[in-house]
This record gives sequence, structure tokens and C-alpha cells, in this order.
Amino acid sequence: MLKAPYERYENLYIYAFREGHPSLRELEEPDLIGYWEEDGLGVLFFHQEKEELVEELVKRLNLTLELKDVIPYAKWNEKRVPHPFVVGPFKIAPLWEKGDFDLIFDPSVVFGEGFHPTTALMLETSWIFFQEKGLPEEVWDLGCGSGLLSLFWAKLGAKVVAVDVNPLCIKVTKRNLELNGLEAEVIEGDVRKLPFFGGELILANLYKGLLLELFNIPSFFTSKYYLLSGFTTGMEEEILQALRDKPVKIEKRLEKENWVCYQLCLS
Ligand SMILES: C[S@@+](CC[C@H](N)C(=O)[O-])C[C@H]1O[C@@H](n2cnc3c(N)ncnc32)[C@H](O)[C@@H]1O
Repeated sequence: MLKAPYERYENLYIYAFREGHPSLRELEEPDLIGYWEEDGLGVLFFHQEKEELVEELVKRLNLTLELKDVIPYAKWNEKRVPHPFVVGPFKIAPLWEKGDFDLIFDPSVVFGEGFHPTTALMLETSWIFFQEKGLPEEVWDLGCGSGLLSLFWAKLGAKVVAVDVNPLCIKVTKRNLELNGLEAEVIEGDVRKLPFFGGELILANLYKGLLLELFNIPSFFTSKYYLLSGFTTGMEEEILQALRDKPVKIEKRLEKENWVCYQLCLS
């Protein structure tokens, strides 16, 4: 996340450790962007090179450095450079842009700067959903990333619950809500281990394997509506097959650059 004196991201200095370590979560360092944990890796992102610090951490915490790299921010996230965009009535922009915006956010280094086709589809379908059906009682954002979808729904006035397994996504989402004077419940955790699924509308822009796992959790299909994305046209048959015996029907299908988004409702 951006904190003074940094006002934008230039280069990302990346250090990935096998398994990570709980102490890395508590690391305080002026040049630190954040600590990310996913798929058996703990990853530190800095604005500056941190060889000495990393060496010291490796020794003190008995870490294994798997990878280090430096990447210009403009090449991060498949070169999707964050910039202003519009969804429905809202002008949305990264916090470093000057201008009059309805929502500002720090995209940080997590997923969700707004331009991946799946995020764009989820936002577009959210706006269509709102126009057609109004405000759901509660919206659950599974895999919230930077929190863009949560911001969008919270701005529309919905009660929002956001979940992500990556601790950096949790910090970034909380910060982004704060930046806009919005509120939501933000939970760090694996969506497969949630004690229950709530909300009238569930948003799930996740990868295909995880969607398939969620479909097999009986309590997943107890909400009224679902917006799903994170799968391509090539994966669609498998998704359709998995939904065949589930108590839902597809109300809407949108496609963008080979990525697909479904709006489902309980049948
Ligand atoms: C494709 S991104 C979507 C981000 C955002 N919702 C959007 O539409 O731009 C998927 C997110 O799911 C999170 N994620 C992956 N596996 C997860 C799991 N098992 N439980 C919770 N979150 C998970 C990732 O950390 C990532 O932030």
C-alpha cells in the first residue's frame, strides 16, 4: 500500500520466501509496500532494494529465499497500468490521479486495478444487476483483491462482506474503504473454510478450480443471486457441467476477451 512519502509506485522490489513466516506480517519498514501470502509463498514488496534487510530476515527467521526480482509497476499485473475508468454512474481512479472522482483506490500490487476482463465484467454485470433488481440486502465479495467490487457495492449503499485469503488484499481493501468513507466487513480467510455463506448476492471472481470446489459445498447455493467470473470460454463446458445438478439457473451471460461472467439465480 502507498504510505508517505510515496505517492505512487515506480519499481517493485520483490522477495519471495518459501512458506513465508508470521513475523513478516508484522514487518514495519518505511519502504515496504506489503506482505503477500499465497500458494505456499510469502512475498515482500518494497519500493527500494532491501538486500541487507532480507539477508537479516533470512538468518533470523530461518527463511528460504525462493526468488527475488525487480519489476517496473507499469509491467506488473500483465502490464495493466491503473488509470481512471467509469462504471455506471461512478468515475473511479487510482488515488494518485488528480481530478473529481466518485471512488478512489490504491490498487497496490494485488489483483483488481480494474482492467482485467473478469473485473470489468463483474463491475459491468454488477451495474446491470443493480439497475434491474435494485440493492441486494447484503453482498458477499469472495476473493476481494483490491476491494474494487466491494467499493462499488458499498458506494451503491449495500451492506458488504469481503473475504480474501491474501493478507495484503485485506489491508488494501480496508484502506480503500477508508479512503472513500465507506464501510464493510472484511474477513481474512479461505472461502472454502467459511462457516457459512451469507448475503443475497454473492460475487465470486475466482479461478475455475476454486469455483468448482465452491459449487460442491452445499451451503454455497443458499444465496439468491450469484455473479461468477474467472473462467474462459474454453473452461465454460466444465463450469456448465458442474452447475447442471445445482439449484441455480443462468440469468445472464457476458463475455469479454474470451473471459466469461454468469449471473445466476436460485431456481
Ligand atoms: C481474480 S482475483 C479477483 C479480485 C477482485 N474481486 C476483482 O474482481 O478484481 C481473485 C482473488 O481471490 C483471492 N483468493 C484466491 N484463492 C482464495 C481462497 N481460497 N479464499 C479466499 N480468497 C482467495 C486472491 O487472493 C485474489 O485476490
